[in-house]
Amino acid sequence: MKKISSLGLLVVLFVVLSACNRDKNHPGYIYYPDMAYSQAYDTYSENPVFAEGQTMRTPAEGTIPRGHTPYPFKAKSFPDQVAAGVQLINPVPHSAEVIATGKQQFEIFCMNCHGMEGKGDGHLYTSKLFPAKPTSLVEDYVKNKPDGEIYHVITMGSLSGLMGGHGGQITPENRWKIIHYVRELGK
Ligand code: HEC
Repeated sequence: MKKISSLGLLVVLFVVLSACNRDKNHPGYIYYPDMAYSQAYDTYSENPVFAEGQTMRTPAEGTIPRGHTPYPFKAKSFPDQVAAGVQLINPVPHSAEVIATGKQQFEIFCMNCHGMEGKGDGHLYTSKLFPAKPTSLVEDYVKNKPDGEIYHVITMGSLSGLMGGHGGQITPENRWKIIHYVRELGK
């Protein structure tokens, strides 16, 4: 009896160890190949399981990407721009560091049109590559606009559409930092 059970143990050990291999890149004996090698469909491949034949699923309605904040105000809508001005408050506190980042971001995204000092005389305009005169950011018209309105214009673009929205390129935090810098320029 003892002999049979130790023989049984040996057989089990042999079967289990036969799946071991010193080379980590090459598995030993595979008992269930369909588990070892996934049968998953590639993201963009056809898929017979779903009615419309696609593997990639449409996200559930209302899904937002990680880190994304939904923006409720519509582009090219004066009431929405004004509402943004009333409802949105600059959440980034003023500091030398914030101004430095705001300046750096302004010089990447705004200076080419609005000019180094925000006077509306950027290279794209003075070189006649861009036909419309960019608004001066240092005169009363913009100085008197609430931060939220400027945030709206940066995010969605201007009412006429001459200035495009930068919501896809500049993070919300950096948009607010740019506004701090625009206020510095206006001082
Ligand atoms: C491609 C050129 C271009 C770039 C880049 C650009 N602007 Fe403009 N911007 C314009 C033009 C042109 C206008 C005037 C548009 C109009 O009257 O509709 C304008 C208008 C504005 C206004 C006034 C909006 C209003 O309500 O009248 C603000 C504020 C402004 N821009 C800020 C910025 C900031 C901040 C950036 C950088 C994030 C920026 N712009 C980038 C061209 C540009």
